[in-house]
Amino acid sequence: MTENPIYGFDTLQVHAGARPDPTTGARQTPIYQTTAYVFRDADHAAALFNLQEVGYIYSRLTNPTVAVLQERIATLEGGIGAVCCSSGHAAQIMALFPLMGPGLNVVVSTRLYGGSVTQFSHTIKRFGWEAKFVDFDDLDAVRAAIDDNTRAVFCESIANPGGYITDLDAIAGVADAAGLPLIVDNTSATPYLCRPIEHGATLVVHSVTKYLTGNGTVMGGAVVDSGRFDWSASDKFPSLSAPEPAYHGLKFHETFGNLAFTFHGIAIGLRDLGMTMNPQAAHYALMGIETLSLRMEKHVANAKRVAAWLEQDPRVEYVTYAGLESSPYFDRVERICPKGAGALFTVAIKGGYEACVRLVDSLELFSHVANLGDTRSLVIHAASTTHRQLTEEQQVAAGAAPNVVRFSIGIEDADDLIRDLDQALAKAAD
Ligand SMILES: Cc1ncc(COP(=O)(O)O)c(C=O)c1O
Repeated sequence: MTENPIYGFDTLQVHAGARPDPTTGARQTPIYQTTAYVFRDADHAAALFNLQEVGYIYSRLTNPTVAVLQERIATLEGGIGAVCCSSGHAAQIMALFPLMGPGLNVVVSTRLYGGSVTQFSHTIKRFGWEAKFVDFDDLDAVRAAIDDNTRAVFCESIANPGGYITDLDAIAGVADAAGLPLIVDNTSATPYLCRPIEHGATLVVHSVTKYLTGNGTVMGGAVVDSGRFDWSASDKFPSLSAPEPAYHGLKFHETFGNLAFTFHGIAIGLRDLGMTMNPQAAHYALMGIETLSLRMEKHVANAKRVAAWLEQDPRVEYVTYAGLESSPYFDRVERICPKGAGALFTVAIKGGYEACVRLVDSLELFSHVANLGDTRSLVIHAASTTHRQLTEEQQVAAGAAPNVVRFSIGIEDADDLIRDLDQALAKAAD
């Protein structure tokens, strides 16, 4: 069903990639809890290992339950293929791995999830990779940061935690002019609210842990390929365009065409990095995705009401939700994420750091956790938790200043959420 244009999003989120089990007729996708798969004969095994035939060898590389999820996510994003992996952070490494090498760099937005800032500013250096952080509203600065050693441009569609929306079309234009792939983390938006490939993204990455699964049960990640990038147009991407010694000189782009990135992600990425998603996690993610649009509608409706209520409250300094008319990014909502600005935003509380800590301790319905994209409403004080490894300057740039808390608005009754916030703000102001 991947390329079938006649079905709408709500149909595809239930059906894409899945068929009744051919042997049992099971209607729900079975959890293929197996490590290995029996080869028909020695020739079959050899063809699979040579990548001459597509099939199942070993679940570090491919698993039928995970394969359904891959096709479902690729379809919803409008991509040609996807590789699922063990977490959103794994997906970021999996996306960069075929593009990067020692001495090469990726140009990234300053407005990213704090864990990504840490991953990019410290951990990837161990591979000899570098990340150059730039304000993605300053297109000249993005252009200036790109040099001969740049291999990708990376941003989030709706950035965590700040309610910032990236002008994807403009950034894609810059990446395109430089002959570079644009990687967009679409975790906070989901393909229901934003489809980065339609705005020029080459690759889309996800933390499947969040809204896609939707109920805080599993860890997972995905890399979706648009299939649109010409990996052989320059000599910058030899992993995809040049002979691969581990497969007897096979050239991924020449052999697999627009599926080159996806095949590489499985045959090299999962095989050697081993960041595999397990079939149980894929099952939970598939269950979650079936109701994605319904949940996102309610998340957005609740977020709009709660953000508007908070904005008029005298105990609040400001609210960063892009769905509010006061947001400098309000105009981008209609163009980039027409079904809504998500359900994630930060709120600056009068009384600063101490008042924020009292607020999170006083909330009863909201859970104080390091997560987002759950059916339950969640809160966190980013500066003392997810973003605490950053300098204060980085915290402010990432929208996580010490006087702000981040809310992930769930799908409960908005009136109940507002009542809970009202009593907690009263305690925070004491
Ligand atoms: C926007 C964004 N991207 C990536 C990640 C990393 O995902 P995971 O925790 O599944 O590794 C997160 C985690 O919070 C996130 O919010």
